[in-house]
Amino acid sequence: MIRIAIIGLGAAARNIHLPAYSKLRGKVRVVAGCDPDEGARASQSAKWGLPEVYEDPRAMIESTKPDVVSICTPPHLHHEQSSMALGYGCHVFCEKPLADDLQEVDDLIAKAEAADRLLVVNSEFPFMNIHASAKKLIGSPRFGRLLFLHASQTFRPTEATEAGWRQEMSRRLGLEFGVHVLDLVRFFFGEDPVRIFAHMPRGSTKARSDVINVISLEFSDGRGASIVLDRLSKGPERYLKMRLDGEFATIETSIGGEVRLEVGLHTRARRPYMRLGLAKGGTAVLQNGDRSTTIAREGINPFADATAVHFANMIEAIQNGGEPPGNARDNRRTLGLVFAAYDSAQSGEALDTDSYLTGAGDSVTNPPGRRQGEA
Ligand SMILES: NC(=O)c1ccc[n+]([C@@H]2O[C@H](COP(=O)([O-])OP(=O)(O)OC[C@H]3O[C@@H](n4cnc5c(N)ncnc54)[C@H](O)[C@@H]3O)[C@@H](O)[C@H]2O)c1
Repeated sequence: MIRIAIIGLGAAARNIHLPAYSKLRGKVRVVAGCDPDEGARASQSAKWGLPEVYEDPRAMIESTKPDVVSICTPPHLHHEQSSMALGYGCHVFCEKPLADDLQEVDDLIAKAEAADRLLVVNSEFPFMNIHASAKKLIGSPRFGRLLFLHASQTFRPTEATEAGWRQEMSRRLGLEFGVHVLDLVRFFFGEDPVRIFAHMPRGSTKARSDVINVISLEFSDGRGASIVLDRLSKGPERYLKMRLDGEFATIETSIGGEVRLEVGLHTRARRPYMRLGLAKGGTAVLQNGDRSTTIAREGINPFADATAVHFANMIEAIQNGGEPPGNARDNRRTLGLVFAAYDSAQSGEALDTDSYLTGAGDSVTNPPGRRQGEA
């Protein structure tokens, strides 16, 4: 039984980690949680029956001696708290982004390796059904090679999404959400882009952080990808849509519940059609002209479901050895692309990515970490 202690009992713990760990009942047990906020301690303790709650992370770790510390606090605390948990000999499962810069990430990787402990980032999107199923088709006779990928988000900020630590971040959209999308780009292509060009405006001179990310990526063999994240849209929210164009078909994935009735006319065949699409947490659809087949669906909470799969891989590595997918060394490459995007946006230049992808102990030719669904 893996014993987990959670630092930070806010939204990520409540909506993602605690539901994910409850899916792994029998394999893991949450032994304690800590948060300086009394309301968070009381509500999460009551809802999830946490055996113990603490105000202070050190006191929690010293008294409960967990195997894994899950870090669900605001990003500026991740480096300090991951270092501390590794120092106590715990494995660390840290929320994204792992740290504020690549030097801090390298420092954490060195500490984890010296302590012989695992350091894994909760970059759970590749473990969603819709993304794992799409990945399985890449290279198959139905889809062929992946040639181009486009990802987009239209998001309507609300008072709740803008509250607290998020409004303090000057590099926000890329670090908060772009990091998931760039992780998916690396996952689907199975390699890292060699060049990046980004435009990341703030929307107004008074705004503190980026609200639009337009990112263009180039691979060594001429393939490409584009990403548009838009937090100015007043239209319907589209949490994440991706289009993967292959040699023989296209796959469209979408996260976010919707009920859609489509009525239209197939122009070539000149026959009408009607389709009712029901998606709770998301769908992946294989398309060829007017023909489409749903290849995967998500449940109501794809974030918790995917985190459970991701964390189960980490448990397997704790028990049987090996480096799980999404380990810090792999995640560093994704984070490197986020920082390359910000530097490109600031300089107005397209940048080679190699110096952002490699840290101490890495080589330029390191393949991205293997993920579920990858051959
Ligand atoms: N992987 C995902 O899909 C996903 C989704 C949402 C958030 N996140 C990440 O999770 C992290 C937390 O985000 P959130 O939305 O839960 O934020 P939040 O503000 O809702 O929760 C953070 C909690 O940390 C607590 N905290 C602050 N300082 C602390 C300290 N020193 N020790 C212990 N607890 C402390 C706060 O009181 C709060 O309860 C962020 O890094 C965010 O990027 C990841």
